[in-house]
Amino acid sequence: EKQNIQVAIDGPASAGKSTVAKLVATSFGYIYCDTGAMYRAVTLQAMHNKIALTDESKILTMLKQTKISFKPGEPVQHVFVNDSEVTEDIRQPKITNSVSTVASLPSIRTELVERQREIAAKSSIVMDGRDIGTAVLPNAQVKIFLIASVDERAERRYKENIAKGINTPLSQLKDEIETRDRKDSTRKTSPLTKAGDAIEVDTTSMTIEQVVKEITKIINLKIK
Ligand code: CDP
Ligand code: CDP
Repeated sequence: EKQNIQVAIDGPASAGKSTVAKLVATSFGYIYCDTGAMYRAVTLQAMHNKIALTDESKILTMLKQTKISFKPGEPVQHVFVNDSEVTEDIRQPKITNSVSTVASLPSIRTELVERQREIAAKSSIVMDGRDIGTAVLPNAQVKIFLIASVDERAERRYKENIAKGINTPLSQLKDEIETRDRKDSTRKTSPLTKAGDAIEVDTTSMTIEQVVKEITKIINLKIK
């Protein structure tokens, strides 16, 4: 029986994880799971229900009754909460700047990690997030830790925003990225950290195509 391949891609905000993970998954014929979208979906749903983002038990009760699902799509996959599409809503700045609070709640992580492992049990997968190599898929055959300088990451987010008609100053984006990275790296439950056996790829001066090529090379070395 052929063993499923697991590729874990972790790293700080805007390092290029989801863009690259999706392209790599498509080229290998693996499924792609954006775990950040799941934390964003919970945050959106909690705000929609006017639940305080620190009210762990209320959010957990809500989450247990909330289906989060994905459908393949171009250029981004579609995200659904209880069958209504939230693909764009979960990328709003107010969600981006609140999601780390929800992601620090241990029972919410436990619930989402369980769902992420169920998805990974079905097929070979590329999964991106913050704790994939360290906590969700500790036995992944391939672990990548994607980084880039904070200036470069802010610049990438800036260009992405401009394309969407959002004009947030670069300095503010840089502050927001640094704040989120700090929260994600210092929380008690599975903080953002490089797994001991992860390969670090610094993408500061790399194009998307170059990063995809590099990761493809790493995967091919590990799975043959
Ligand atoms: O794409 P971006 O870097 O903006 O973030 P994301 O991957 O969509 O993740 C949004 C937030 O969810 C992160 O800042 C973390 O707080 C949280 N997250 C997490 O805690 N664990 C994961 N495996 C994925 C995301
Ligand atoms: O998922 P994560 O937050 O790590 O990053 P992303 O959303 O995949 O990428 C953030 C932005 O950087 C996107 O607009 C990508 O097109 C861009 N990017 C880039 O310019 N160069 C790279 N090597 C990787 C991503």
